[in-house]
Parts: sequence; C-alpha cells; structure tokens
Amino acid sequence: MGVNGEKKIARPLRWGMVGGGRTGQVGYKHRTGALRDNTAYQLLAGAFDVDYERCKDFGRNLGVAEDRLYPDYKTMFEEEAKRPDGIEVVSIATPNFTHYEITKAALNAGLHVICEKPLFFSVEEGEEIKKLAEEKGKIVGVTYGFSGFQLLLQMRSMIENGDLGKVHMIELSYTHGFACSDIGDKKNEAQKWRVDPKKSGPSFVLGDLSTHTFYMSQLICPDIKLKEVLCDRQSFVKSRAPLEDNAYVLMHYDNGAVGRMWVSSVDAGSMDSQHIRIVGSKASVEFNDWQPNELIYEVQGKPNQKLYRGMPYLSDACNEFERMNALHTEGLGDSWANIYLKIAMAIDAKNRGDEEALKKINYPDINAGIDGIRWITKCVESADKGGVWVPFND
Ligand SMILES: NC(=O)c1ccc[n+]([C@@H]2O[C@H](COP(=O)([O-])OP(=O)(O)OC[C@H]3O[C@@H](n4cnc5c(N)ncnc54)[C@H](O)[C@@H]3O)[C@@H](O)[C@H]2O)c1
Repeated sequence: MGVNGEKKIARPLRWGMVGGGRTGQVGYKHRTGALRDNTAYQLLAGAFDVDYERCKDFGRNLGVAEDRLYPDYKTMFEEEAKRPDGIEVVSIATPNFTHYEITKAALNAGLHVICEKPLFFSVEEGEEIKKLAEEKGKIVGVTYGFSGFQLLLQMRSMIENGDLGKVHMIELSYTHGFACSDIGDKKNEAQKWRVDPKKSGPSFVLGDLSTHTFYMSQLICPDIKLKEVLCDRQSFVKSRAPLEDNAYVLMHYDNGAVGRMWVSSVDAGSMDSQHIRIVGSKASVEFNDWQPNELIYEVQGKPNQKLYRGMPYLSDACNEFERMNALHTEGLGDSWANIYLKIAMAIDAKNRGDEEALKKINYPDINAGIDGIRWITKCVESADKGGVWVPFND
C-alpha cells in the first residue's frame, strides 16, 4: 500500500513538454510531478519556450539532449515520430488559447496528451478532441494539480459509506488577492494573457481558478450530478471587463443537493486557498488546501474530529496514494506527483488495451477537462443573461 517510488507501470514513459520554459509559472510543477518517482516518466524532449534560444539554454540545463530541443511543437512532433525512441506522451503547459491546436496535433502525431486547464475554449472543441483521442486510442489527462491530495479520496469514501448521511450542501471556494490592481495585467507576462479574452477564453477566474475546485468536488461526489448553475460575475478592476475577477455561482444538483462557489482574484489580503465543505444530513467533512494533511469531520451532536493523512483508519482508496507516511507532512508537490502517476497508469492501461483497469483509475481525464469548459461556459452564460438559472448539460 502507498507510493514508495517503485514501479507501478512496466517501464517509464518517454515524455516531452511544450511550454513550461524558464519564465513559465507552472512548468516546474509538471516536472516535479512527473519525475518524482523516476519510474513513470523520462523527460527526453522539449519545445519549452516561444523563444528558441531560451528553450535551448533552459533544456540543456535540465539535461535534455541538444538535438531534442525544438523551436516549436510541430517540429518536435515530426522529428520525434522519426526516432525509434521518440516521445510517446507530451505535456502542454502553454497559455490557454494554444491548448486546442497543440492537443490536436499531438494526437494526430500518435501521442498521449497531458494538458493544462482550462482544457479548451468550447465544449464542442472538447467533444471533437475526445472523439479524436478515442479514434487514436490515446489518453488525454488534465492537470488539475490539486486533485492528487489523497484525503480527497477519503472524503469520497466517507460519502460512499454513508458517513455523512444524504449530501445536502456542497460549499466551494477558491480565492486570493494577488490581482487586486491592474499593475500585473500590464507588466506580468503570465498575467497579461490571462486578462485578454482572445488568449484566456470567455473567463478569467472562473477558468483560471474555479475549474480546479469544481473538478475536486466531482471527484469527491461522483454520483451527484450538476443540473443547473446561476452565476453572477464582476470585473472589479474595470479594464478586465468582460472578463471577471470575482464570481459567485449557485448550483442545483439532480439529487436535490445545492451548492455554492466563490471564486476571486481580488479577495484583498487573502493568500491563494481552496476550501471544500460537504454537508450531509448527519455530518460534514471539510478540506482546506493549506492544511492538506488533515480533514475536519463533524458529526452533529458529537465532538469534532480531525482525520490525519497516512493513518490506517483511512480508506484503502485514500492510502493507495500515500507517499510520506503519517509522521511527516506533505504538500502540493505530492498531489501533482499523484496526478502524474495516475495518468501514467492510465496511459499504460490504454497501451495494454486493459479497459477494466483504466475504469478504476481516478484521474482527471478528458471528460473532466470538458466538464471544466462546460462549467465556465454555463457560468458565463448565466451571468451574462443577468444571473439566471441555466441547465448544466444542454
Ligand atoms: N494546474 C495549475 O495549477 C496551473 C497553475 C498555473 C497555470 N496553469 C495553466 O498553465 C498554462 C500556462 O500558464 P503559466 O502561468 O505557466 O503561463 P506563463 O505565461 O507563465 O508560461 C507559458 C510558457 O509557455 C511558453 N509558450 C507559450 N506559447 C508557446 C508555444 N506555442 N510553444 C512553446 N512554448 C510556448 C512560454 O515561453 C512560457 O515558458 C495555462 O493554461 C494556465 O491556465 C495551471
């Protein structure tokens, strides 16, 4: 039980990256996630940067062979396909507007794909890519990097066991205060594209932040399906309009449960943090990503409990991805490493044609990516119609 760096698949996957270069915000998380165990991925090639000289310098420093550092992703896919030891999976850590075309080119080049969120701009693009991935027999995984915290699987097990009774409320938030002014919008390379609708898509914080928390809520409550959303969104920094920097979403679920999401980048003074509280008819359970080693479990009429990571009283599903044992704390790097490991296991099962094994692996797949796009699309539609209920699945 647990992860101790030993093999979970027969051999490491030959892996390349598009984006995530020296100046990129998220690339390092991909590399620490993928390479943590040294048994699931080997980084062999990269088109890491829009600037080829910087890509080469950076790639050399990572230890990637000179002849496998490429000026762009098209050249990388073409050249790698000619090699007997060419890459078989690629990660895409570039700004949102490039995800669709790079994913499509990768699948057409016969590669499995691990792509950043939000996956694409429209649900139609998502469905088209899902069909292409099926035709090609490939996995598309999405790096909802917070979703590898294994205590989320404990929450899922507790709901499956009926520990909370019937789920009534799903309370979600993901807020920070790092975009309270427009200074970063003008000066910061990673922020500029986020507030440009052509590059970011139809939303700012709904796509940038809330897709993570939304996916985590679906991971925890797989049988509670979202029926409709009502969203109100604001651009407190006016120059960002029509993109929002704050939004409130109400949710109705098909089992009668209700939910609420607050997402914001203008929550002044707040550090980046996500809260998930699931309230049932008998008890509640709560996760906060700043305390990823513990869950708060509150049973009505009884003293509150803290459930600690790595303990034998947790479910097997949770402890399967335990890395550090209970004595030692863990953090976001472990969550990313679990996401990368699960996607490697999914790619391995797909390669072996083992659909039964594939079904049992809880990883953010293309459906999770499409649901993230659907979430953004429906929230934007609801807000822009004046804050009305819109069906989630139409
Ligand atoms: N999963 C997470 O927790 C998380 C966190 C941050 C960002 N993201 C997502 O990751 C993506 C990248 O965000 P970021 O903040 O790292 O952006 P960024 O602007 O900081 O970095 C983008 C990187 O991609 C490179 N790049 C851009 N276009 C390219 C192209 N066509 N070919 C090759 N390289 C290219 C840039 O040179 C840079 O290295 C976005 O989709 C964002 O939403 C996810």
